[in-house]
Amino acid sequence: MALPLLSEDPVYTKLVALYQDAGSKLDMRELFQQDPERFKKFSVELDHLPCPDDGGPFLLDYSKNIVTPEIFQLLLDLAKSRKLEDKRNSMYSAGKINTTENRAVLHIALRARSDDPPITLEGKNVIDDVTKVLNQMEKFCNDVINGVWTGYTGKKLTELQESGFLQAARKWFLAVILTCKKLRPAAVNTSYGAWLNFFVVNIGIGGSDLGPCMVSEALTQYQVGPKAHFVSNVDESHLTDVLKSVNPETTLFIIASKTFTTQETIANAQSARKWFLEKVKDDSAIAKHFVALSTNLPKVQEFGITTTFEFWDYVGGRYSLWSAIGLSVALQSGFANFRKLLDGARFLDQHFKNAPLEKNVPVILALLGVWYNSVIGWESHAVLPYDQFLSKLPAYLQQADMESNGKSATLSGKRITSFNTGPVLWGQAGTNGQHAFYQLLHQGTRIVPSDFIGFAKKKEDISGISHHSILLANLIAQPEALMVGRTQPSASIPEELRPHKFFPGNRPTNVIMTKKLTPFTLGLLIAMYEHKIFVQGAIWDVNSYDQWGVELGKELAKAIEPELAGQATGNHDSSTQGIINFILKNGK
Ligand code: F6P
Repeated sequence: MALPLLSEDPVYTKLVALYQDAGSKLDMRELFQQDPERFKKFSVELDHLPCPDDGGPFLLDYSKNIVTPEIFQLLLDLAKSRKLEDKRNSMYSAGKINTTENRAVLHIALRARSDDPPITLEGKNVIDDVTKVLNQMEKFCNDVINGVWTGYTGKKLTELQESGFLQAARKWFLAVILTCKKLRPAAVNTSYGAWLNFFVVNIGIGGSDLGPCMVSEALTQYQVGPKAHFVSNVDESHLTDVLKSVNPETTLFIIASKTFTTQETIANAQSARKWFLEKVKDDSAIAKHFVALSTNLPKVQEFGITTTFEFWDYVGGRYSLWSAIGLSVALQSGFANFRKLLDGARFLDQHFKNAPLEKNVPVILALLGVWYNSVIGWESHAVLPYDQFLSKLPAYLQQADMESNGKSATLSGKRITSFNTGPVLWGQAGTNGQHAFYQLLHQGTRIVPSDFIGFAKKKEDISGISHHSILLANLIAQPEALMVGRTQPSASIPEELRPHKFFPGNRPTNVIMTKKLTPFTLGLLIAMYEHKIFVQGAIWDVNSYDQWGVELGKELAKAIEPELAGQATGNHDSSTQGIINFILKNGK
Protein backbone atom coordinates (compact mmCIF):
# COMPACT_ATOMS: atom_id res chain seq x y z
CA MET A 1 0.00 0.00 0.00
CA ALA A 2 1.31 3.46 -0.93
CA LEU A 3 2.51 5.64 1.93
CA PRO A 4 0.95 9.07 2.42
CA LEU A 5 3.19 12.01 1.52
CA LEU A 6 5.63 12.67 4.38
CA SER A 7 3.97 16.06 4.97
CA GLU A 8 0.66 14.23 5.57
CA ASP A 9 2.15 11.68 7.97
CA PRO A 10 0.74 12.34 11.47
CA VAL A 11 4.15 11.78 13.13
CA TYR A 12 5.77 14.25 10.76
CA THR A 13 3.09 16.88 11.43
CA LYS A 14 3.67 16.37 15.16
CA LEU A 15 7.39 16.99 14.62
CA VAL A 16 6.65 20.17 12.65
CA ALA A 17 4.34 21.41 15.40
CA LEU A 18 6.90 20.55 18.05
CA TYR A 19 9.59 22.50 16.20
CA GLN A 20 7.35 25.53 15.72
CA ASP A 21 6.27 25.43 19.33
CA ALA A 22 9.37 24.61 21.39
CA GLY A 23 12.00 23.13 19.08
CA SER A 24 13.01 26.40 17.47
CA LYS A 25 13.90 27.77 20.92
CA LEU A 26 15.98 24.78 21.98
CA ASP A 27 19.51 25.58 22.98
CA MET A 28 22.08 22.80 23.17
CA ARG A 29 24.05 24.65 25.84
CA GLU A 30 21.05 24.41 28.16
CA LEU A 31 20.40 20.79 27.18
CA PHE A 32 23.95 19.89 28.23
CA GLN A 33 23.56 21.77 31.49
CA GLN A 34 20.26 20.09 32.28
CA ASP A 35 21.56 16.60 31.64
CA PRO A 36 25.13 15.64 32.60
CA GLU A 37 24.50 12.24 31.02
CA ARG A 38 23.73 13.72 27.60
CA PHE A 39 26.88 12.39 25.89
CA LYS A 40 26.18 8.91 27.20
CA LYS A 41 22.56 9.03 26.06
CA PHE A 42 23.24 10.48 22.63
CA SER A 43 26.25 8.50 21.50
CA VAL A 44 26.85 4.98 20.22
CA GLU A 45 30.08 3.09 20.66
CA LEU A 46 30.65 -0.14 18.75
CA ASP A 47 33.49 -1.70 20.68
CA HIS A 48 33.33 -5.29 19.44
CA LEU A 49 34.51 -4.73 15.89
CA PRO A 50 36.01 -7.88 14.35
CA CYS A 51 38.79 -5.63 13.11
CA PRO A 52 41.72 -7.63 11.79
CA ASP A 53 43.68 -4.48 11.04
CA ASP A 54 43.73 -2.40 14.22
CA GLY A 55 40.93 -0.11 13.08
CA GLY A 56 38.24 -0.30 15.79
CA PRO A 57 36.36 0.62 17.98
CA PHE A 58 33.82 3.04 16.46
CA LEU A 59 32.18 6.09 18.03
CA LEU A 60 29.24 8.20 16.90
CA ASP A 61 28.71 11.21 19.16
CA TYR A 62 25.44 12.87 18.18
CA SER A 63 24.89 14.68 21.47
CA LYS A 64 25.67 18.08 19.86
CA ASN A 65 22.39 18.05 17.95
CA ILE A 66 19.30 20.12 18.60
CA VAL A 67 17.23 17.20 19.83
CA THR A 68 15.65 16.22 23.10
CA PRO A 69 14.67 12.68 24.11
CA GLU A 70 11.11 13.58 23.07
CA ILE A 71 12.16 14.70 19.58
CA PHE A 72 14.43 11.68 19.16
CA GLN A 73 11.58 9.36 20.11
CA LEU A 74 9.27 11.04 17.60
CA LEU A 75 11.93 10.61 14.90
CA LEU A 76 12.10 6.92 15.74
CA ASP A 77 8.29 6.79 15.53
CA LEU A 78 8.54 8.45 12.14
CA ALA A 79 10.88 5.68 10.95
CA LYS A 80 8.27 3.13 11.99
CA SER A 81 5.42 5.06 10.46
CA ARG A 82 7.34 5.22 7.13
CA LYS A 83 7.72 1.40 7.29
CA LEU A 84 11.51 1.59 7.44
CA GLU A 85 11.95 -1.93 8.81
CA ASP A 86 9.76 -3.50 6.09
CA LYS A 87 11.67 -1.59 3.41
CA ARG A 88 15.01 -2.62 4.88
CA ASN A 89 13.90 -6.27 4.99
CA SER A 90 12.79 -5.99 1.41
CA MET A 91 16.24 -4.76 0.31
CA TYR A 92 18.00 -7.56 2.23
CA SER A 93 15.73 -10.21 0.73
CA ALA A 94 16.27 -9.03 -2.87
CA GLY A 95 12.93 -7.25 -3.28
CA LYS A 96 12.80 -5.13 -6.44
CA ILE A 97 12.93 -1.86 -4.54
CA ASN A 98 14.30 0.03 -7.55
CA THR A 99 10.76 0.17 -8.87
CA THR A 100 11.26 2.40 -11.91
CA GLU A 101 13.87 0.01 -13.32
CA ASN A 102 12.32 -3.15 -11.85
CA ARG A 103 15.59 -4.12 -10.15
CA ALA A 104 16.69 -5.47 -6.81
CA VAL A 105 19.30 -3.39 -4.93
CA LEU A 106 21.98 -5.71 -3.66
CA HIS A 107 25.26 -3.96 -2.94
CA ILE A 108 24.99 -5.79 0.40
CA ALA A 109 25.51 -9.07 -1.50
CA LEU A 110 28.85 -7.81 -2.81
CA ARG A 111 30.19 -7.74 0.75
CA ALA A 112 28.71 -11.09 1.83
CA ARG A 113 30.96 -14.08 2.45
CA SER A 114 30.39 -17.29 0.50
CA ASP A 115 29.09 -19.10 3.59
CA ASP A 116 26.63 -16.35 4.57
CA PRO A 117 22.90 -17.17 4.31
CA PRO A 118 21.88 -17.11 0.63
CA ILE A 119 20.45 -14.00 -1.01
CA THR A 120 18.10 -15.41 -3.59
CA LEU A 121 17.14 -13.50 -6.71
CA GLU A 122 15.12 -15.24 -9.39
CA GLY A 123 15.86 -18.64 -7.89
CA LYS A 124 19.62 -18.08 -7.70
CA ASN A 125 21.91 -17.31 -4.76
CA VAL A 126 23.61 -14.15 -5.98
CA ILE A 127 26.47 -14.65 -3.51
CA ASP A 128 27.70 -17.50 -5.75
CA ASP A 129 28.20 -15.13 -8.71
CA VAL A 130 29.77 -12.52 -6.45
CA THR A 131 32.24 -15.06 -5.05
CA LYS A 132 33.16 -16.24 -8.54
CA VAL A 133 34.08 -12.71 -9.67
CA LEU A 134 35.94 -12.00 -6.41
CA ASN A 135 37.99 -15.15 -6.99
CA GLN A 136 38.71 -14.01 -10.55
CA MET A 137 39.80 -10.59 -9.22
CA GLU A 138 42.00 -12.19 -6.57
CA LYS A 139 43.81 -14.35 -9.12
CA PHE A 140 44.26 -11.43 -11.49
CA CYS A 141 45.63 -9.16 -8.74
CA ASN A 142 48.08 -11.82 -7.59
CA ASP A 143 49.15 -12.53 -11.18
CA VAL A 144 49.79 -8.85 -11.89
CA ILE A 145 51.54 -8.14 -8.59
CA ASN A 146 53.67 -11.30 -8.87
CA GLY A 147 54.50 -10.70 -12.50
CA VAL A 148 52.64 -13.73 -13.87
CA TRP A 149 50.43 -11.50 -16.04
CA THR A 150 52.89 -10.02 -18.52
CA GLY A 151 52.68 -7.20 -21.02
CA TYR A 152 52.54 -7.79 -24.79
CA THR A 153 56.33 -8.04 -25.05
CA GLY A 154 56.31 -10.91 -22.58
CA LYS A 155 58.01 -8.63 -20.09
CA LYS A 156 56.63 -8.75 -16.57
CA LEU A 157 54.40 -5.76 -16.11
CA THR A 158 56.24 -5.04 -12.90
CA GLU A 159 59.64 -5.05 -14.55
CA LEU A 160 61.47 -1.77 -14.52
CA GLN A 161 62.14 0.23 -17.63
CA GLU A 162 65.44 1.78 -16.71
CA SER A 163 69.13 1.74 -17.45
CA GLY A 164 71.63 -0.45 -15.61
CA PHE A 165 72.80 2.56 -13.61
CA LEU A 166 69.26 3.48 -12.54
CA GLN A 167 68.55 -0.15 -11.67
CA ALA A 168 71.59 -0.26 -9.41
CA ALA A 169 70.58 3.05 -7.83
CA ARG A 170 67.06 1.76 -7.23
CA LYS A 171 68.33 -1.44 -5.61
CA TRP A 172 70.63 0.54 -3.35
CA PHE A 173 67.80 2.91 -2.39
CA LEU A 174 65.45 0.01 -1.64
CA ALA A 175 68.10 -1.75 0.42
CA VAL A 176 68.53 1.40 2.51
CA ILE A 177 64.84 1.93 3.19
CA LEU A 178 64.17 -1.75 3.82
CA THR A 179 66.81 -1.85 6.52
CA CYS A 180 65.79 1.44 8.03
CA LYS A 181 63.78 0.25 11.04
CA LYS A 182 62.01 3.53 11.49
CA LEU A 183 60.02 3.09 8.29
CA ARG A 184 56.77 1.13 8.48
CA PRO A 185 56.19 -1.59 5.87
CA ALA A 186 53.46 0.57 4.32
CA ALA A 187 55.95 3.36 3.78
CA VAL A 188 58.35 0.91 2.19
CA ASN A 189 55.63 -0.35 -0.11
CA THR A 190 54.69 3.15 -1.14
CA SER A 191 58.28 4.01 -1.91
CA TYR A 192 58.68 0.77 -3.80
CA GLY A 193 55.48 1.35 -5.74
CA ALA A 194 56.67 4.80 -6.71
CA TRP A 195 59.79 3.23 -8.18
CA LEU A 196 57.94 0.89 -10.44
CA ASN A 197 57.36 2.10 -13.94
CA PHE A 198 54.01 0.36 -13.98
CA PHE A 199 50.61 1.93 -13.99
CA VAL A 200 46.98 1.12 -13.81
CA VAL A 201 44.78 3.66 -15.55
CA ASN A 202 41.12 3.38 -14.60
CA ILE A 203 38.88 4.98 -17.21
CA GLY A 204 35.35 5.52 -15.92
CA ILE A 205 33.05 8.24 -14.61
CA GLY A 206 30.54 8.74 -11.78
CA GLY A 207 30.20 5.53 -9.79
CA SER A 208 32.78 3.85 -12.03
CA ASP A 209 35.37 6.43 -10.96
CA LEU A 210 34.56 8.24 -7.71
CA GLY A 211 34.45 5.15 -5.48
CA PRO A 212 37.70 3.46 -6.56
CA CYS A 213 39.43 6.85 -6.85
CA MET A 214 38.43 7.88 -3.32
CA VAL A 215 39.26 4.48 -1.80
CA SER A 216 42.61 4.06 -3.54
CA GLU A 217 43.67 7.45 -2.17
CA ALA A 218 42.28 6.61 1.28
CA LEU A 219 44.34 3.41 1.31
CA THR A 220 47.55 4.97 0.03
CA GLN A 221 49.41 3.61 3.04
CA TYR A 222 48.38 0.07 2.17
CA GLN A 223 49.88 0.10 -1.30
CA VAL A 224 51.47 -3.20 -2.30
CA GLY A 225 50.80 -3.08 -6.05
CA PRO A 226 50.71 -0.60 -8.91
CA LYS A 227 49.47 2.90 -8.23
CA ALA A 228 46.11 3.57 -9.78
CA HIS A 229 45.49 6.66 -11.90
CA PHE A 230 41.99 7.80 -12.79
CA VAL A 231 40.67 9.39 -15.94
CA SER A 232 37.04 10.46 -15.90
CA ASN A 233 36.47 13.83 -17.56
CA VAL A 234 35.75 13.84 -21.28
CA ASP A 235 37.95 16.95 -21.42
CA GLU A 236 40.92 15.46 -23.29
CA SER A 237 43.36 17.18 -20.93
CA HIS A 238 42.50 14.63 -18.27
CA LEU A 239 43.55 11.67 -20.44
CA THR A 240 46.52 13.33 -22.14
CA ASP A 241 47.90 14.44 -18.81
CA VAL A 242 47.94 10.84 -17.54
CA LEU A 243 49.22 9.39 -20.83
CA LYS A 244 52.20 11.72 -20.69
CA SER A 245 53.54 9.86 -17.67
CA VAL A 246 52.88 6.23 -18.62
CA ASN A 247 54.67 3.68 -20.76
CA PRO A 248 52.44 1.52 -23.04
CA GLU A 249 54.64 -1.51 -22.44
CA THR A 250 53.86 -1.52 -18.72
CA THR A 251 50.42 0.05 -18.49
CA LEU A 252 47.14 -1.69 -17.79
CA PHE A 253 44.00 0.18 -18.83
CA ILE A 254 40.87 -0.70 -16.90
CA ILE A 255 37.73 0.39 -18.73
CA ALA A 256 35.10 0.69 -16.00
CA SER A 257 31.54 1.18 -17.11
CA LYS A 258 28.41 -0.56 -15.91
CA THR A 259 26.57 0.10 -19.17
CA PHE A 260 29.62 0.38 -21.45
CA THR A 261 27.71 3.07 -23.33
CA THR A 262 28.61 6.15 -21.27
CA GLN A 263 29.76 8.80 -23.73
CA GLU A 264 32.69 10.14 -21.69
CA THR A 265 34.11 6.72 -20.81
CA ILE A 266 33.80 5.30 -24.31
CA ALA A 267 35.43 8.42 -25.81
CA ASN A 268 38.34 8.21 -23.34
CA ALA A 269 38.68 4.43 -23.84
CA GLN A 270 38.79 4.84 -27.63
CA SER A 271 41.42 7.56 -27.39
CA ALA A 272 43.50 5.46 -24.97
CA ARG A 273 43.32 2.51 -27.37
CA LYS A 274 44.33 4.70 -30.32
CA TRP A 275 47.30 6.10 -28.33
CA PHE A 276 48.29 2.58 -27.32
CA LEU A 277 48.10 1.16 -30.87
CA GLU A 278 50.02 4.11 -32.32
CA LYS A 279 52.87 3.26 -29.95
CA VAL A 280 52.65 -0.52 -30.06
CA LYS A 281 51.42 -1.14 -33.63
CA ASP A 282 49.99 -4.55 -32.79
CA ASP A 283 46.23 -5.13 -32.29
CA SER A 284 46.81 -8.39 -30.44
CA ALA A 285 48.60 -6.45 -27.65
CA ILE A 286 45.22 -5.02 -26.56
CA ALA A 287 44.39 -8.30 -24.79
CA LYS A 288 47.26 -7.86 -22.35
CA HIS A 289 46.76 -4.17 -21.65
CA PHE A 290 43.00 -3.55 -21.63
CA VAL A 291 40.48 -5.17 -19.29
CA ALA A 292 36.85 -4.22 -18.73
CA LEU A 293 34.56 -3.99 -15.70
CA SER A 294 30.97 -4.09 -16.86
CA THR A 295 27.52 -5.63 -16.86
CA ASN A 296 27.32 -5.32 -20.65
CA LEU A 297 29.44 -8.16 -22.05
CA PRO A 298 28.36 -7.80 -25.73
CA LYS A 299 29.41 -4.13 -25.78
CA VAL A 300 32.77 -5.01 -24.18
CA GLN A 301 33.39 -7.63 -26.88
CA GLU A 302 32.42 -5.16 -29.58
CA PHE A 303 35.13 -2.85 -28.18
CA GLY A 304 37.66 -5.68 -28.56
CA ILE A 305 38.42 -6.44 -24.92
CA THR A 306 38.76 -10.10 -24.02
CA THR A 307 39.13 -10.00 -20.22
CA THR A 308 36.03 -8.82 -18.39
CA PHE A 309 35.19 -8.70 -14.71
CA GLU A 310 31.45 -8.84 -14.56
CA PHE A 311 28.88 -7.33 -12.25
CA TRP A 312 25.12 -7.18 -12.39
CA ASP A 313 22.21 -4.81 -12.81
CA TYR A 314 21.26 -5.11 -9.13
CA VAL A 315 24.43 -3.10 -8.37
CA GLY A 316 23.83 0.63 -8.81
CA GLY A 317 26.75 2.62 -10.28
CA ARG A 318 27.23 4.72 -7.13
CA TYR A 319 27.11 1.56 -4.98
CA SER A 320 29.51 -0.42 -7.16
CA LEU A 321 32.96 0.10 -5.66
CA TRP A 322 32.56 -3.23 -3.84
CA SER A 323 32.14 -5.08 -7.13
CA ALA A 324 34.56 -5.58 -10.02
CA ILE A 325 34.58 -1.76 -10.17
CA GLY A 326 36.98 -1.98 -7.19
CA LEU A 327 39.64 -3.76 -9.28
CA SER A 328 42.03 -0.79 -9.31
CA VAL A 329 41.79 -0.64 -5.50
CA ALA A 330 42.44 -4.38 -5.22
CA LEU A 331 45.46 -4.08 -7.54
CA GLN A 332 46.94 -1.14 -5.65
CA SER A 333 46.22 -2.34 -2.11
CA GLY A 334 46.33 -6.10 -2.69
CA PHE A 335 43.29 -8.36 -2.69
CA ALA A 336 43.56 -9.16 1.04
CA ASN A 337 43.07 -5.49 1.86
CA PHE A 338 40.19 -5.25 -0.61
CA ARG A 339 38.55 -8.17 1.24
CA LYS A 340 39.02 -6.28 4.53
CA LEU A 341 37.26 -3.29 2.98
CA LEU A 342 34.35 -5.57 2.07
CA ASP A 343 34.38 -7.05 5.58
CA GLY A 344 34.10 -3.60 7.15
CA ALA A 345 31.04 -2.90 5.02
CA ARG A 346 29.63 -6.36 5.82
CA PHE A 347 29.97 -5.60 9.54
CA LEU A 348 27.94 -2.43 9.07
CA ASP A 349 25.38 -4.31 6.91
CA GLN A 350 24.78 -6.66 9.82
CA HIS A 351 24.62 -3.78 12.30
CA PHE A 352 22.08 -1.95 10.11
CA LYS A 353 19.99 -5.10 9.76
CA ASN A 354 20.02 -6.19 13.40
CA ALA A 355 20.61 -3.25 15.76
CA PRO A 356 17.52 -1.67 17.34
CA LEU A 357 16.62 1.59 15.63
CA GLU A 358 17.62 3.74 18.61
CA LYS A 359 21.16 2.28 18.57
CA ASN A 360 21.44 1.93 14.82
CA VAL A 361 24.15 4.27 13.51
CA PRO A 362 22.89 4.88 9.94
CA VAL A 363 19.32 5.20 11.21
CA ILE A 364 20.33 7.82 13.78
CA LEU A 365 22.30 9.85 11.23
CA ALA A 366 19.44 9.66 8.75
CA LEU A 367 16.76 10.72 11.26
CA LEU A 368 18.81 13.73 12.37
CA GLY A 369 19.19 14.68 8.71
CA VAL A 370 15.43 14.45 8.16
CA TRP A 371 14.82 16.60 11.26
CA TYR A 372 17.08 19.36 9.96
CA ASN A 373 16.42 19.13 6.26
CA SER A 374 12.73 18.28 6.04
CA VAL A 375 11.23 19.47 9.32
CA ILE A 376 13.32 22.61 9.94
CA GLY A 377 14.46 23.38 6.38
CA TRP A 378 18.26 23.49 6.78
CA GLU A 379 18.95 22.07 3.40
CA SER A 380 22.68 21.57 3.25
CA HIS A 381 24.98 19.08 4.96
CA ALA A 382 28.77 19.17 5.27
CA VAL A 383 31.10 16.17 5.55
CA LEU A 384 34.46 17.14 7.05
CA PRO A 385 37.05 14.36 7.25
CA TYR A 386 40.06 15.17 9.43
CA ASP A 387 42.39 12.95 7.46
CA GLN A 388 44.10 14.00 4.24
CA PHE A 389 43.70 10.52 2.79
CA LEU A 390 39.93 11.03 2.91
CA SER A 391 40.04 14.28 0.96
CA LYS A 392 37.92 12.74 -1.81
CA LEU A 393 35.22 11.44 0.54
CA PRO A 394 32.97 14.53 0.22
CA ALA A 395 33.00 14.30 -3.60
CA TYR A 396 32.26 10.58 -3.41
CA LEU A 397 29.37 11.12 -1.00
CA GLN A 398 28.06 13.93 -3.15
CA GLN A 399 27.24 11.44 -5.90
CA ALA A 400 26.13 8.71 -3.48
CA ASP A 401 23.70 11.02 -1.70
CA MET A 402 22.63 13.58 -4.27
CA GLU A 403 22.15 11.16 -7.17
CA SER A 404 20.23 8.84 -4.83
CA ASN A 405 17.93 11.22 -3.00
CA GLY A 406 17.85 14.34 -5.17
CA LYS A 407 14.31 13.38 -6.16
CA SER A 408 10.87 15.00 -6.16
CA ALA A 409 8.58 12.10 -7.07
CA THR A 410 7.39 9.57 -4.49
CA LEU A 411 7.40 5.86 -5.23
CA SER A 412 3.75 6.11 -6.22
CA GLY A 413 4.46 9.08 -8.51
CA LYS A 414 3.20 11.98 -6.37
CA ARG A 415 5.09 15.26 -6.76
CA ILE A 416 6.90 16.45 -3.62
CA THR A 417 6.67 20.19 -3.03
CA SER A 418 5.95 20.47 0.69
CA PHE A 419 9.28 19.35 2.20
CA ASN A 420 12.95 18.98 1.25
CA THR A 421 14.32 15.63 0.15
CA GLY A 422 18.07 15.01 -0.42
CA PRO A 423 20.39 17.63 1.07
CA VAL A 424 23.02 19.63 -0.77
CA LEU A 425 26.07 17.67 0.36
CA TRP A 426 29.53 19.15 0.29
CA GLY A 427 32.74 19.37 2.29
CA GLN A 428 36.48 19.23 2.32
CA ALA A 429 39.25 17.74 4.40
CA GLY A 430 39.92 19.47 7.70
CA THR A 431 41.82 21.59 8.54
CA ASN A 432 41.83 23.14 5.03
CA GLY A 433 38.10 23.84 5.25
CA GLN A 434 38.72 25.87 8.41
CA HIS A 435 40.61 28.38 6.30
CA ALA A 436 37.92 28.49 3.65
CA PHE A 437 34.24 28.06 4.49
CA TYR A 438 34.12 27.55 8.28
CA GLN A 439 33.55 31.30 8.60
CA LEU A 440 30.07 30.66 7.19
CA LEU A 441 29.59 27.62 9.44
CA HIS A 442 30.30 29.74 12.53
CA GLN A 443 28.79 33.12 11.69
CA GLY A 444 26.78 32.81 8.47
CA THR A 445 23.01 33.20 8.34
CA ARG A 446 22.56 29.59 7.21
CA ILE A 447 22.91 26.64 9.53
CA VAL A 448 24.81 23.69 8.08
CA PRO A 449 24.64 20.46 10.11
CA SER A 450 28.05 18.82 9.74
CA ASP A 451 29.79 15.48 10.24
CA PHE A 452 33.32 15.60 11.63
CA ILE A 453 35.24 12.39 10.89
CA GLY A 454 38.52 11.49 12.57
CA PHE A 455 40.86 8.76 13.75
CA ALA A 456 42.16 8.55 17.30
CA LYS A 457 45.41 6.66 16.88
CA LYS A 458 48.43 8.85 16.73
CA LYS A 459 50.32 8.85 13.47
CA GLU A 460 54.10 8.98 13.48
CA ASP A 461 55.62 12.40 14.11
CA ILE A 462 57.69 13.28 11.09
CA SER A 463 59.81 16.00 12.66
CA GLY A 464 59.12 16.05 16.36
CA ILE A 465 56.03 18.17 15.71
CA SER A 466 52.87 16.30 16.61
CA HIS A 467 50.81 16.95 13.48
CA HIS A 468 48.23 14.41 14.59
CA SER A 469 47.59 16.10 17.94
CA ILE A 470 47.17 19.44 16.18
CA LEU A 471 44.74 17.82 13.73
CA LEU A 472 42.66 16.15 16.44
CA ALA A 473 42.64 19.23 18.67
CA ASN A 474 41.11 21.12 15.74
CA LEU A 475 38.59 18.37 15.09
CA ILE A 476 37.45 18.54 18.71
CA ALA A 477 37.51 22.33 18.96
CA GLN A 478 35.34 23.02 15.92
CA PRO A 479 32.20 21.17 17.06
CA GLU A 480 32.70 22.65 20.52
CA ALA A 481 32.97 26.17 19.11
CA LEU A 482 29.97 25.63 16.83
CA MET A 483 27.88 24.52 19.78
CA VAL A 484 29.12 26.80 22.56
CA GLY A 485 29.60 29.93 20.45
CA ARG A 486 30.68 33.20 22.06
CA THR A 487 27.76 35.43 22.84
CA GLN A 488 29.33 37.51 25.63
CA PRO A 489 32.27 39.49 24.27
CA SER A 490 35.06 40.19 26.69
CA ALA A 491 35.20 43.69 28.15
CA SER A 492 38.39 44.47 26.23
CA ILE A 493 36.61 44.29 22.85
CA PRO A 494 35.60 47.72 21.56
CA GLU A 495 31.86 48.27 21.25
CA GLU A 496 31.88 48.61 17.45
CA LEU A 497 33.67 45.27 17.01
CA ARG A 498 31.33 43.30 19.23
CA PRO A 499 28.75 42.38 16.55
CA HIS A 500 31.59 41.07 14.39
CA LYS A 501 33.04 38.92 17.14
CA PHE A 502 29.69 37.42 18.08
CA PHE A 503 29.38 33.64 17.63
CA PRO A 504 25.75 32.52 17.99
CA GLY A 505 26.63 28.86 18.67
CA ASN A 506 23.90 26.20 18.92
CA ARG A 507 25.00 24.79 15.53
CA PRO A 508 24.66 21.01 15.21
CA THR A 509 27.43 18.51 14.51
CA ASN A 510 28.12 14.78 14.65
CA VAL A 511 31.54 13.36 15.46
CA ILE A 512 32.35 10.02 13.87
CA MET A 513 35.54 8.28 14.93
CA THR A 514 37.43 5.06 14.86
CA LYS A 515 40.85 4.19 16.12
CA LYS A 516 42.54 4.20 12.73
CA LEU A 517 41.80 4.58 9.02
CA THR A 518 42.16 1.01 7.76
CA PRO A 519 40.54 -0.95 4.94
CA PHE A 520 38.05 -2.37 7.47
CA THR A 521 37.03 0.93 9.06
CA LEU A 522 36.88 2.62 5.65
CA GLY A 523 34.46 -0.07 4.43
CA LEU A 524 32.39 0.42 7.57
CA LEU A 525 32.31 4.20 7.12
CA ILE A 526 31.21 4.09 3.49
CA ALA A 527 28.52 1.47 4.18
CA MET A 528 27.28 3.64 7.07
CA TYR A 529 26.62 6.50 4.64
CA GLU A 530 25.07 4.14 2.07
CA HIS A 531 22.55 2.93 4.63
CA LYS A 532 21.93 6.45 5.89
CA ILE A 533 20.94 7.32 2.32
CA PHE A 534 18.66 4.27 2.21
CA VAL A 535 16.89 5.28 5.43
CA GLN A 536 16.32 8.84 4.26
CA GLY A 537 14.99 7.61 0.91
CA ALA A 538 12.61 5.33 2.81
CA ILE A 539 11.31 8.21 4.92
CA TRP A 540 10.87 10.53 1.95
CA ASP A 541 9.38 7.57 0.02
CA VAL A 542 11.54 8.17 -3.05
CA ASN A 543 13.40 5.66 -5.20
CA SER A 544 17.03 6.13 -4.13
CA TYR A 545 18.30 3.79 -6.84
CA ASP A 546 17.40 5.35 -10.18
CA GLN A 547 18.88 8.53 -11.71
CA TRP A 548 16.53 9.75 -14.42
CA GLY A 549 17.59 13.30 -13.62
CA VAL A 550 20.85 12.87 -15.51
CA GLU A 551 19.14 11.90 -18.78
CA LEU A 552 17.78 15.16 -20.18
CA GLY A 553 21.12 16.99 -20.22
CA LYS A 554 22.82 13.99 -21.89
CA GLU A 555 20.12 13.91 -24.58
CA LEU A 556 20.38 17.61 -25.37
CA ALA A 557 24.19 17.45 -25.49
CA LYS A 558 23.95 14.74 -28.17
CA ALA A 559 21.75 17.03 -30.27
CA ILE A 560 24.09 20.02 -29.81
CA GLU A 561 27.26 18.13 -30.84
CA PRO A 562 26.54 18.26 -34.62
CA GLU A 563 25.56 21.92 -34.26
CA LEU A 564 29.01 22.68 -32.84
CA ALA A 565 30.51 20.89 -35.84
CA GLY A 566 28.45 23.15 -38.11
CA GLN A 567 26.56 20.13 -39.44
CA ALA A 568 23.10 20.98 -38.08
CA THR A 569 21.06 23.83 -36.73
CA GLY A 570 18.86 23.56 -33.67
CA ASN A 571 15.81 25.28 -32.34
CA HIS A 572 16.97 26.84 -29.07
CA ASP A 573 16.12 29.73 -26.79
CA SER A 574 18.16 32.85 -27.52
CA SER A 575 20.57 32.24 -24.62
CA THR A 576 21.47 28.69 -25.69
CA GLN A 577 21.79 29.77 -29.32
CA GLY A 578 23.90 32.77 -28.30
CA ILE A 579 26.41 30.46 -26.55
CA ILE A 580 26.53 28.12 -29.57
CA ASN A 581 27.15 31.10 -31.86
CA PHE A 582 29.96 32.36 -29.61
CA ILE A 583 31.69 28.97 -29.80
CA LEU A 584 31.18 28.69 -33.56
CA LYS A 585 32.79 32.10 -33.97
CA ASN A 586 35.65 31.74 -31.48
CA GLY A 587 36.29 28.03 -31.13
CA LYS A 588 38.20 27.27 -34.33
O1 F6P B 1 25.68 9.97 -14.03
C1 F6P B 1 24.86 8.93 -14.41
C2 F6P B 1 25.52 7.59 -14.29
O2 F6P B 1 24.64 6.67 -14.83
C3 F6P B 1 25.89 7.20 -12.85
O3 F6P B 1 24.85 6.72 -12.12
C4 F6P B 1 26.97 6.20 -13.11
O4 F6P B 1 27.71 5.96 -11.96
C5 F6P B 1 27.73 6.88 -14.20
O5 F6P B 1 26.75 7.52 -15.00
C6 F6P B 1 28.60 5.98 -15.04
O6 F6P B 1 27.87 4.98 -15.67
P1 F6P B 1 28.56 3.72 -16.31
O7 F6P B 1 29.23 2.96 -15.22
O8 F6P B 1 27.45 2.93 -16.93
O9 F6P B 1 29.54 4.19 -17.33
